[in-house]
Amino acid sequence: MSRTESFAGEALQVVRGTRSGVAIAVAIHSTARGPAIGGCRIKPYPSWRDGVDDALRLSAAMTTKCALAGLPYGGGKTVAALPAEGLDPARRPDLIADIAEAIAALGGRYRTGPDIGSTSQDMADIHRLAHGWAFCRPEEQGGSGTSSAATARGVLAALRAGVAPRSVAGLRVGVLGFGSVGRLICESLLEQGADVVVTDVDSGLRPVAEQLGATWTEADLVREPLDVLVPAATGGLLTVESAAGCGASLIVGPANNQLVAEEVAMVLRDRGITWIPDVVASAGGIIHAVGREALGMDEAAANAKIDAIADTTAAVLSLARERGLTTVRAARELAPPA
Ligand SMILES: NC(=O)c1ccc[n+]([C@@H]2O[C@H](COP(=O)([O-])OP(=O)(O)OC[C@H]3O[C@@H](n4cnc5c(N)ncnc54)[C@H](O)[C@@H]3O)[C@@H](O)[C@H]2O)c1
Repeated sequence: MSRTESFAGEALQVVRGTRSGVAIAVAIHSTARGPAIGGCRIKPYPSWRDGVDDALRLSAAMTTKCALAGLPYGGGKTVAALPAEGLDPARRPDLIADIAEAIAALGGRYRTGPDIGSTSQDMADIHRLAHGWAFCRPEEQGGSGTSSAATARGVLAALRAGVAPRSVAGLRVGVLGFGSVGRLICESLLEQGADVVVTDVDSGLRPVAEQLGATWTEADLVREPLDVLVPAATGGLLTVESAAGCGASLIVGPANNQLVAEEVAMVLRDRGITWIPDVVASAGGIIHAVGREALGMDEAAANAKIDAIADTTAAVLSLARERGLTTVRAARELAPPA
């Protein structure tokens, strides 16, 4: 018997950009706690429908992320689904204008920020064209700047809570993805005395990683014996198969939607692998952006709220342990209802 899947979100707007021709999806999962917020992802997809699915999934995760972080916002997401061959760089201003138009049409129910494929400068352009509905403009243009350092800070808080009472010193940590967040996490872990192994699809990053003191590997880090695996590339890293062969004791990282399906969390739990949900660990960036730009926090207050991710992590892990739940389920139970 087939069942019709019900729409769990609040609104979904899909437009074909009049200037760029690119399909742009803006998903609003919830505005129950406040305006929906979520980054703007610009990347190639096999089909525009995959982009829409990604926007729906990511917007739902943003609702939980905001609720767990105690922010007065709901979840949303923008996805500009580029064709497989990407976008001619000369057309990028057209695409940004189309994205801004799509966001402006929602009248403030949804606010955006940078994500894969978009930058702080794009946010400045969207902010200007969409009547202010974008976070993380460059600091010199009045925004809170890139969110990478805040995201890395939050992941490190979650990691410390995950390994407690041990310290980070001496742990073998694998960082998968040496981009803006992954690199900052590496730097900090090395400073704290961890033994860090790094991989990235972009092998041009190898000299930079090695200069920091990390070990570069081409091996599949998911299968490596590690104390901690840090997924810092794209989502969808953990499948039932990869979880079954995972060699890490703890998984915690910034990548959004790390599990391809919730059943993967059960495989990890049953294998005794602790997975800190990305909705908990990756909230530092959003906390910093809205804290500084909308909630009147100074840098110290925003950092204190980011560091409190350690408390949320500890609460999620202890609830999961006490009740034998997956950490996904525990995080959902701890999230105040939207
Ligand atoms: N930047 C933020 O503030 C922030 C906030 C929340 C979540 N995140 C998420 O964290 C992740 C990292 O963010 P970022 O800003 O560092 O992105 P980034 O684009 O700067 O870095 C990602 C890195 O991953 C590498 N990569 C891609 N696919 C890979 C693969 N299959 N194997 C190995 N390496 C691969 C890329 O080459 C790149 O170096 C993303 O999933 C992002 O959505 C970022």
